[in-house]
Amino acid sequence: MSNSYNIDPALLERFSSFKSKKSFLLSFEGIEGAGKSTQIIRFKDKLEQDGYDVLLVREPGGTVFGEHLREAILHSESPLDPIAEAHLFASSRAQLLFEKTLKHLERPNSVVIYDRYIDSSIAYQGVARGLGVEKILEIHAHAPLTTLPQKTFYIRISLECSLKRQAARNQEKDYFESENNNFYQKLIDGYDQAQQLFPQRFSIIDGEQDIDHVFSQICQAWESLLL
Ligand SMILES: Nc1ncnc2c1ncn2[C@@H]1O[C@H](COP(=O)(O)OP(=O)(O)OP(=O)(O)O)[C@@H](O)[C@H]1O
Ligand SMILES: [Mg+2]
Repeated sequence: MSNSYNIDPALLERFSSFKSKKSFLLSFEGIEGAGKSTQIIRFKDKLEQDGYDVLLVREPGGTVFGEHLREAILHSESPLDPIAEAHLFASSRAQLLFEKTLKHLERPNSVVIYDRYIDSSIAYQGVARGLGVEKILEIHAHAPLTTLPQKTFYIRISLECSLKRQAARNQEKDYFESENNNFYQKLIDGYDQAQQLFPQRFSIIDGEQDIDHVFSQICQAWESLLL
């Protein structure tokens, strides 16, 4: 497999999407304010109405161990070394896969929805923090971290849109939200790189449309997965 980012093809081949026709591993990605939480709540409702048993998880977190790591990362008083940050996220992710996700997916008609997954690591630690995409893939190159979603809904908004929505929310900024504009532009570039490495898994959703239109695009992408 060739790719435009000089990633070792043997490394990429270690990853594969979760394989099942009866249960589904899904992720939502996008920068702050993209609308992930807004859409996930609606989408989870829809799936439950359709008869699926849905587990919704967020990263870092989702297990007691992972929630401790989440606190440590998001409220760190001093900047974390990027490699420390990347390993903390990967630790939380591995524990969640081991403790909950893979067990849940053993049941038929089950869905696990991730509010952020590996593409956030690629965008945040790989590109915005400068570790490089390959380093993030290397950190994830062992099971269970090699399990990728069957579908990733990337809700794409511009930097300007994110800043506007963050200002409207008017909350105290957390660890990542206090970063500057240059950081956010790198995040957008990072998600674009992830999408180019894993084009089949990604559906790009225009997150600047109104909430109903965004939702109907997500549903369309989901329906096409079921075909
Ligand atoms: N399509 C949309 N149009 C206008 N406003 C939106 C849209 N989607 C979400 N919003 C608003 O933008 C804000 C951020 O949305 P939301 O919390 O869903 O984003 P998020 O991607 O989960 O962000 P974070 O990464 O910070 O958790 C909320 O106030 C929400 O109501
Ligand atoms: Mg959210």
